[in-house]
Amino acid sequence: MKFDVITLFPEIIENYCSASVIGRAFKQEIVSVNTVNPRDFSTDKHKKVDDTPYGGGAGMVLMCQPFYDAYDSVKKLENCASIIFTPQGKPFNQEMGKNLSTKDQIISICGHYEGYDERIRQIPGLIEVSIGDFVLTGGELAALCVIDAVTRLIPGGIGKEESAEEDSFSEDLLEYPHYTRPNDFRGMKVPDVLLSGNHQEIAKWRKKQAILRTQAKRPDLFEKFMQREHTKEEKAILKELNLWI
Ligand code: ADE
Repeated sequence: MKFDVITLFPEIIENYCSASVIGRAFKQEIVSVNTVNPRDFSTDKHKKVDDTPYGGGAGMVLMCQPFYDAYDSVKKLENCASIIFTPQGKPFNQEMGKNLSTKDQIISICGHYEGYDERIRQIPGLIEVSIGDFVLTGGELAALCVIDAVTRLIPGGIGKEESAEEDSFSEDLLEYPHYTRPNDFRGMKVPDVLLSGNHQEIAKWRKKQAILRTQAKRPDLFEKFMQREHTKEEKAILKELNLWI
């Protein structure tokens, strides 16, 4: 997977992508990240990338030319998703992350200041993506969320593939609770079943906890889970919990 990020602040992207688990995927060349600064493409003698808005008003607007030229310099592969980050976009979620993980290239356009010239949104094939109903100062954090979530879905991206499979959201359920040593911490004990060595019972307990947690914390997801097909094991648990209808 090749990530190209068009940004006026390349160091934000580079710093994050060189650290932690995601940094390892980059070092192992499972994914690569390349930043492109529209300022380097500005034809203005002062390397300007923004200008005052037509019609007046406060703030500056990012200009088309540096962004179009930066985009054209990286758009190479056929199996490519091009994203512009804005609070007006389609909300990002795990399903979108899964679809994006099948691409060979993801190009992200990050804006700053007041906004973009509307014509930047008209780059052919561009999709608008939001990471939530709040306004950030720029698209970099949003691009990093997508890069992070997609990298861990790429085979080998986080080492153990089954950990991504078992994630919250991968089957419309939140994750079950995890414990490690010690077995008793300040009087808080690890559930006995996890010490039993009975793998079937452990799997059943985990699924039950995942269902109960989802019901308590995310009624919207729980409704989605209840609508989908259930495995034999899930049906048995739902009956036990009096949730089977
Ligand atoms: N840019 C500013 N706010 C944003 C958001 N919530 N999502 C994506 N990009 C943004």
